[in-house]
Amino acid sequence: MMNEIDARRSPRERRRAAFCLAALLLAPLIFAGTAVADGDPAAGKRVFARCQSCHQVGPKARNLVGPELNGVVGRTSGTAPGYTYSPALKAAAIVWDHDTIAAFVANPQGVARGTRMTSPGPLRPADVDNLVAYLASFAADGSAAPAR
Ligand code: HEC
Repeated sequence: MMNEIDARRSPRERRRAAFCLAALLLAPLIFAGTAVADGDPAAGKRVFARCQSCHQVGPKARNLVGPELNGVVGRTSGTAPGYTYSPALKAAAIVWDHDTIAAFVANPQGVARGTRMTSPGPLRPADVDNLVAYLASFAADGSAAPAR
């Protein structure tokens, strides 16, 4: 049956079909490439070493000097349960995303004057991308977040 249909197709139609199939197969690879360009969670885990003296993520994360950061991407500042924030960070009501985290980490006082977080030191833009991808990989309960 398939062969009969194939035989009736012109070479040009067959080439077009092959091209469509190739495009279909390659599309996910191209999108995967974009995700990596946005940030690599595995590399971000290494960058998170700079935060770990004060912050935890993952299923067993607790509030330390700083609040636990599970689900922090998309979270409003000052809302981790059980953590006592500075009035400044609560009042700021910042929604944490790539850009707000990048700005806060680079200059905490510039983003929320009066915050108790001190700058962990300068991070390269690629480090920030990777760090945010790593943080985004944790849901609010510390489990693996569905891929974004
Ligand atoms: C020396 C300790 C320390 C280090 C290191 C540190 N932080 Fe913090 N961080 C804090 C404290 C304390 C707060 C809470 C500040 C407040 O209440 O004003 C905080 C708050 C935050 C918040 C806001 C969380 C919320 O729930 O609103 C984010 C986001 C954050 N830190 C990210 C980072 C990242 C990313 C790093 C590493 C690059 C880092 N921090 C390194 C101490 C630290």
